[in-house]
Amino acid sequence: MSESLKLLIGKAELDTAISRMAARLKEDYPGPLTCLCVLKGALYFFSDLTRLMGDQVTIGMLTTKSYDGTRSTGFKADLSSCPDLKGKDVLVIEDIVDTGHSMTRLLPLLQEQQPRSLKVCVLIDKKARREVDYTPDYSCFTFDDPFVVGYGFDYDERYRNLPEIYELSFT
Ligand code: IMP
Ligand code: MG
Repeated sequence: MSESLKLLIGKAELDTAISRMAARLKEDYPGPLTCLCVLKGALYFFSDLTRLMGDQVTIGMLTTKSYDGTRSTGFKADLSSCPDLKGKDVLVIEDIVDTGHSMTRLLPLLQEQQPRSLKVCVLIDKKARREVDYTPDYSCFTFDDPFVVGYGFDYDERYRNLPEIYELSFT
């Protein structure tokens, strides 16, 4: 079986969507905001987005793992690099919401720290694949099915570093 990549979202389209999202977030959060990067998938999105969000942002990291190849498996979260969220406005920045299981497992763990507010911004909302009732507060792109790689998205840890987003298929 061989893998093939087809360009789905190019650099210019990514830049436009991310600039638009940064402007919207700056308007919605005029004061201090803690942005949390969900590693590893959101790495590049988080980096590009937060650099456009001005001087009120502090950053934190957390790691989740929920995938094995193209199949959804278990869920693990490592919050050891996550700052104290108590009383803070917090925005989780994630690569994608697919079945919705990861986000609905992660949010209660963050809520335990009693942030003042807790919202989620995703690059891609794959609405049609949802298995639980969850809608992210902000999303740059919405589409149905294709499995994507590049710009942080991986297939078995490969392709994350590609600068644009590709649809991965097997032939
Ligand atoms: P969920 O728990 O099914 O919503 O899955 C969320 C996680 O699955 C994301 O954070 C990604 O790491 C991974 N994922 C879902 N769809 C894709 C995809 O098309 N390409 C790469 N990773 C994906
Ligand atoms: Mg992820």
